[in-house]
Amino acid sequence: SDMDLVRIGKADDLQEGEIRRVSVPGYEPLALCRSGGRLHLFADMCSHGMASLSEGEVADGQVFCPFHGGGFDVATGMPTERPCTIPINVYALVERDGDVLVAGKM
Ligand code: FES
Repeated sequence: SDMDLVRIGKADDLQEGEIRRVSVPGYEPLALCRSGGRLHLFADMCSHGMASLSEGEVADGQVFCPFHGGGFDVATGMPTERPCTIPINVYALVERDGDVLVAGKM
């Protein structure tokens, strides 16, 4: 239902390759990025250590951790680069009238 949607920003705030941390009540810390023209939302914390992925880099459909350079697919949360081996949570987004809303865990 609409009550489950939480606005987290404007769709045009993020350019290709940009990533930022997002705080949503009731959720783990999240990271929002634009990659391949699309917005992606996932857990901000790396599954390998206490690193904030929003302080890392986005390239080639992946986010790279600032600590040890591990990587994850931004669309699926699957690890793509060692030392990361554990997937991170990914979250569903809705874009409406230029706003981005989080629509729950995928
Ligand atoms: Fe992220 Fe090690 S903490 S790769």
